[in-house]
Amino acid sequence: MNAQAPQQMQIELQVNGRQVLAGVEPRLLLSDFLRHQLGLTGTHVGCEHGVCGACTVLLDDEPVRACLMFAVQAAGHTVRTVEDLAPAPGEREQLHPLQVAFQQSHALQCGFCTPGILMSMLPFLADNPAPTEAEIR
Ligand code: FES
Repeated sequence: MNAQAPQQMQIELQVNGRQVLAGVEPRLLLSDFLRHQLGLTGTHVGCEHGVCGACTVLLDDEPVRACLMFAVQAAGHTVRTVEDLAPAPGEREQLHPLQVAFQQSHALQCGFCTPGILMSMLPFLADNPAPTEAEIR
């Protein structure tokens, strides 16, 4: 058996406004890259096959399932995760208006998929700032 060290590729991308240069294995999922290499654990992983939406992030302002993309596919792009909505206390202590609305409306169940829902709602509301309930559903 020929055990070789995994090949690494250098990628450069912008994550939450910060330029990132990193070495990754070509098969590394974007969700694992965000969580394990960048420590952005707000992106949750549920089904790992594109169904639940918990891992949704924005790629160039469009929602994508981070579990269906390789990190290398995000090279040269802009990624935005839920951490970008409300920076840590002390930086800017206010929640994003969408987070406030979720909080006020108790729009959570267990909360595990909430980051994905928030990141899905941002571009939806940008395109349609006054949706009907039917459009939201
Ligand atoms: S983890 Fe379920 S869609 Fe990505």
